[in-house]
This record gives sequence, C-alpha cells and structure tokens, in this order.
Amino acid sequence: MHADVKKVLAEYEECYRRDSDALLSLPDAPQAVLLSVGPDTGQFMNSLLKGSKARSILELGTSYGYSTIYLAEAARANTGIVTSCDFDVEKQIFANDMLRRAGLEDHVVFRSGDAIQIIESLEGEIEFCLIDLWNSYYIPAFDALYPKLAPLGYVIADNISSPDPVAGEGYRQHIRLRKDIESILLPIGWGLELSRRCASS
Ligand SMILES: C[S@@+](CC[C@H](N)C(=O)[O-])C[C@H]1O[C@@H](n2cnc3c(N)ncnc32)[C@H](O)[C@@H]1O
Repeated sequence: MHADVKKVLAEYEECYRRDSDALLSLPDAPQAVLLSVGPDTGQFMNSLLKGSKARSILELGTSYGYSTIYLAEAARANTGIVTSCDFDVEKQIFANDMLRRAGLEDHVVFRSGDAIQIIESLEGEIEFCLIDLWNSYYIPAFDALYPKLAPLGYVIADNISSPDPVAGEGYRQHIRLRKDIESILLPIGWGLELSRRCASS
C-alpha cells in the first residue's frame, strides 16, 4: 500500500484506540465509533478484492470511512469503483476528507440515505458488497442485493459474532435459504460471514 494510505489508516487506528479506551468505560458507548471493521477485516477484504479483481464494489455503512479506505485502495488496483452508503452525511464528509488525504477520493462515490433504497436504485451487477449497518437492516439489505449480485460475487457481513450473535445467527440462517449461495463464518475481527454466489444460478 502507498505510504499516504498507511498514514491515514494509522491515524484512524490511533483515534479508535484512544476513543475506545475512553468510551468503553461508559454504559452506552456509541457503536458507530467503536464498531469500525478493524485492521484484520480491512486487510482481508483488501486482499480478497485484489485477488478477485472485482470492480463493482458496494459498501453499506460508510461511517467515518475506515473500511472505505481499504475498499478504495483495492478499487484503485482493480480499476473499479466503490459506492459507499450511509444515512449520516456528516460522517461521509469526514470520510471523503480522509480519502482525499490518502489519495483515494477518485475511487469512491458516496450515496447518502437508506441503504435498502440505494441498493434498489443501483444499475448493473455488484461484484463485492460489505454489509456493515445496524443489525436490523442486514436481512433487508441482503434481500435487496441478492438479485443484483454477480455470479461469483462476494458478500461480507461484519459483526456476525459481536456485539449481537443472535442477530448474526439470524442473518446466517436467512442467507442459507438461497440455494446458490455458499457461505462460511470466519473468525476475523467481529466475526465475518463470507458468502459467494455460485457460478451458474
Ligand atoms: C458500524 S458503522 C460502519 C463502520 C464502517 N464500515 C467502518 O468500518 O469504518 C454502521 C454505519 O451504518 C450506518 N447505517 C446503519 N443502518 C443504515 C441504513 N439502513 N442505511 C444507511 N446507513 C445505515 C450508520 O449511520 C453507521 O454510520
């Protein structure tokens, strides 16, 4: 990765470390601050994307853009584009500034609003999607995404094991109703469900 990208990622990680120490002592710590995907998941997605050469990349849940940096760096390598969705515009403004500092702003298009409505409005196939929303939206997001998921397309759902493993298990059971989806729970970060559409469906 380019030094500018590494520098911006290190700033996020320092910030999350500092905020986590302070916020974890509070009874109602704000999840958006604490629940970035983290470096292991970021690196895993980046490697998977580069290996798959996916170009049409969707991120559901921009937040402050930590995961967006990893996706955008792979999009640049693949000559692709990340569409990143969140209903919080202020966070996306922050994320855009961090992308600019990492030299990656040309590889991301931000969409603000409800992720499900945004998926429904998208044209063309999606080759890779990160689902990292509030957990009540995971199943609706998957259902909206499914008709647009390319053959051999990947879906990664974060936070399957933590903080709400019951919701995570609900998502895992739901996606297994689709016969052309292969899926596995990976013990990376907060628990990732990695799903892939079979070649011919
Ligand atoms: C856990 S954070 C995403 C963290 C980010 N992916 C990262 O690793 O840095 C979840 C984000 O999803 C957004 N969100 C939750 N549900 C949403 C929905 N239905 N539509 C759009 N955004 C949503 C929240 O505003 C929040 O910023």
